Amino acid sequence: VNHLLGIKYLTESDIQLIFETADQFKEVINRPIKKVPSLRDITIANLFFENSTRTKLSFELAEKRLSADVINFSASQSSVKKGETLIDTVNNILSMKVDMVVMRHPSPGAGVFLSKHIDASIVNAGDGAHEHPTQALLDSYSIRESLGSVKGKNVVIVGDILHSRVALSNIYALKLQGANVMVCGPKTLLPKYIKDLGVKVETNLRQALNWCDVANMLRVQNERMDISYFPSTREYAQQYGVNKALLDSLDKEITIMHPGPINRGVEITSDVADSDQSIILNQVENGVAIRMAVIYLLASKIK
Ligand code: CP
Repeated sequence: VNHLLGIKYLTESDIQLIFETADQFKEVINRPIKKVPSLRDITIANLFFENSTRTKLSFELAEKRLSADVINFSASQSSVKKGETLIDTVNNILSMKVDMVVMRHPSPGAGVFLSKHIDASIVNAGDGAHEHPTQALLDSYSIRESLGSVKGKNVVIVGDILHSRVALSNIYALKLQGANVMVCGPKTLLPKYIKDLGVKVETNLRQALNWCDVANMLRVQNERMDISYFPSTREYAQQYGVNKALLDSLDKEITIMHPGPINRGVEITSDVADSDQSIILNQVENGVAIRMAVIYLLASKIK
C-alpha cells in the first residue's frame, strides 16, 4: 500500500512528478467544468481529529473534482468521545469499503502508526508538530509558480519553528529541491536539533529578510505550549512581525508566504498580507491542484 506520510519519505523526482501532475489539474480546475471522472471507483475518508479550515476543505474539494466518493469524519462529533481507539475507529470506517484515508491528528507519527495496522492508503494532513506534507508541496509549488523555480532560491521560514509541522516539511521539501533554507525566530522557538537539518539559523528578522527571496511567515502556536515561550505577543510582533515599512526598507522586493491561519498584527500586518508581495491566497488555490495530484497518483496504485 502506498502512502504520503511525510516529505521525509519522498525523493526529488517524486516531488517533480507531483508538480507536473498538479500543473494538469490546475488547468482542469480553471475550466468552466472543473471535474474529471478519474476516481469514480475510489472512496476516500477524511478523518480530522484536529481543527482545520484550509486543509479539510481543500482535500474535500480535490477529491470531489476527481469524482471520488467522499465521507467526512470529525473527531469532536464521533464515538472517539466514547473511548473508541484510533485503530478501531479507522478499521470500522474501512470496513465500509474505503480505499484511502486522509488524516489530521494531534499526535506526531499518527499516520506512520496507522499505516502499520490498516490496509488502505494514508495521506498525512498534519500530525502534531511533526509533518504537513501537502502544505510543503503546495508551498514549493507556489514558489515555483511565482519565481520560476525553487532550486537556488533563498527561503527563510520565520517564527515558531519548534512547534511547527509546516516548518519541518518545508525544510525537507526545499532542501530536496536545492533551495537555500534559513530559519529565523527567537531562540526559545527554535528546536535544539535545528542545525542538524542543514539550515542557516538567524535570530534577527531584518538580517533574514535581507538575505532571502521568499519569507514564509508562521503563526506562534500557543495551543502547543504549556508555558509562554516569549515575553508577550506585542514583543513578538515588534521583533518578528513583518510590516510594510520593514519590507519597503529592504534593498529588494521579496515574496511573502503564510500557510494560514493568519494572526493579523502579530506575525504579519494587513498591509503586507493583502499586498502584491503576498502569495498567500495563491498558496490556498494551489493546494487543491496539489492535493488532486497526490490523491490521483496514490489512487493509480490502488486500481
Ligand atoms: N495551513 C493549514 O493547515 O490550515 P488549516 O489548519 O486551516 O487546515
